Amino acid sequence: MKLSVIGLGYVGLPLSSLLATIYDVVGFDTDKSKIEALLAGEVPIKEPDLDELLKYAFSSGRLKVTNDPSLLLGSDVKIITVGTPYNEKTDYIDYSQLESSIEIIMPYLQKNDIVLLKSTVPPGTTMGIVRRRIESAGFKVPGDVGLVFSPERMIEGQAVHDFKTLPKIIGASDDRSFRIVSDMLSKLGGKIIRVSNPETAETVKMVDNYSRFVFLGLVNELALACEKIGVDVLEVIKSAQDDYPRNSGLLLPGPGVGGSCLNKDPFILRGVLRASGMELEMVRSAESINSRMPNHVAEMVSLFLKSGKVAILGVAFKGDTDDTRFTPSYAIGDALIKRGFEVTFTDPFVKGKGIRGDLYGASEKSDCLVLVTDHSEYRKLDLVKLRKHMNSKPLIIDTRGIINRKVAEVNGFTYHGLGRL
Ligand SMILES: NC(=O)c1ccc[n+]([C@@H]2O[C@H](COP(=O)([O-])OP(=O)(O)OC[C@H]3O[C@@H](n4cnc5c(N)ncnc54)[C@H](O)[C@@H]3O)[C@@H](O)[C@H]2O)c1
Repeated sequence: MKLSVIGLGYVGLPLSSLLATIYDVVGFDTDKSKIEALLAGEVPIKEPDLDELLKYAFSSGRLKVTNDPSLLLGSDVKIITVGTPYNEKTDYIDYSQLESSIEIIMPYLQKNDIVLLKSTVPPGTTMGIVRRRIESAGFKVPGDVGLVFSPERMIEGQAVHDFKTLPKIIGASDDRSFRIVSDMLSKLGGKIIRVSNPETAETVKMVDNYSRFVFLGLVNELALACEKIGVDVLEVIKSAQDDYPRNSGLLLPGPGVGGSCLNKDPFILRGVLRASGMELEMVRSAESINSRMPNHVAEMVSLFLKSGKVAILGVAFKGDTDDTRFTPSYAIGDALIKRGFEVTFTDPFVKGKGIRGDLYGASEKSDCLVLVTDHSEYRKLDLVKLRKHMNSKPLIIDTRGIINRKVAEVNGFTYHGLGRL
């Protein structure tokens, strides 16, 4: 069996590299510079274990990356992993990448092919616009071409691990397509969960991100409440969960909700339901709390420091990735600048104007560190060395609860955590 993966981003690149350990895979992307970078041996995204996997996939000859669509001919399963952003103006999903990827596939679609959608889409998309376009070319769905939706549920920073272990939800237009796709995905690892149809699988993915967004709103509000009460939110959550599975749904609070998925899927679902006269009230409340968090972090700094230089540790929206989509770091930086602070950004993986890779250089002569991203290397900060680079009486605002308060205080820092004033 031959496969193609259309869209080599944070999902498509690790997925095609993993599938190439088993199958012949064509990875297609319209972004020429991305293909050129890959062909030159560069890895365009930061993801643990991806470098090694890609090296293996290329050297074995099983993965070919291209922007030539004719290479899609002959792939039995065409896997779509293009972006599906939210369009604020229309309050609906922006289908442009998905529609264009289908147009690109169409000339190379053959009888018995399967189109597998992994991009996140509103319920009804697979058997709606995708099916209609394929049938408009004279194919019957199902019958000639099979359609499957299997949501991608990995998170960045652990994509390879997640692809190998997470359960695979599959909603197919017919039994044959289900069998072929489940056989293929089960080879990666993780159990297979068959659901009644693609619409159910699409709804499961919406629930993943809708519920996470709402639960983050809940714990972020809890963090603000704990600061008022004068207790430590992390101690509260840990104790509430200890041997008490009914609280297992509690997440950890943070400086704001970043990442492309949580900042679009709840709103896409809300837009879809609004069109049928229903308002998702929980999304509205969670949005109001989550969007308040970056400003709250800046307020925490002002509570303990009137002026000076602040180093923001982490620009990526989450640990061990270089993805900055919807990162709270910039909003925190802007709020601090508005309050008159001088701000520097540092990140080990994110390159860009005004971002220093060198943690110690960025912290030089600063008065405060604001830890925003839970990168693994920030879990083992050398506070003794950092202290030497900073001004006297340095402050730490730890928005992720990953710096040891006692170690910080022993080394001369004043430490405050989000929800743990
Ligand atoms: N990033 C995540 O953590 C994550 C997790 C689960 C699900 N998802 C979903 O997976 C999908 C992809 O997300 P992503 O983060 O990988 O996006 P991305 O923006 O990183 O990648 C999309 C890729 O598709 C390419 N592309 C755009 N139009 C194309 C076309 N017509 N033909 C071929 N390639 C095209 C782009 O050049 C880009 O490389 C989205 O629907 C997203 O909601 C993402």
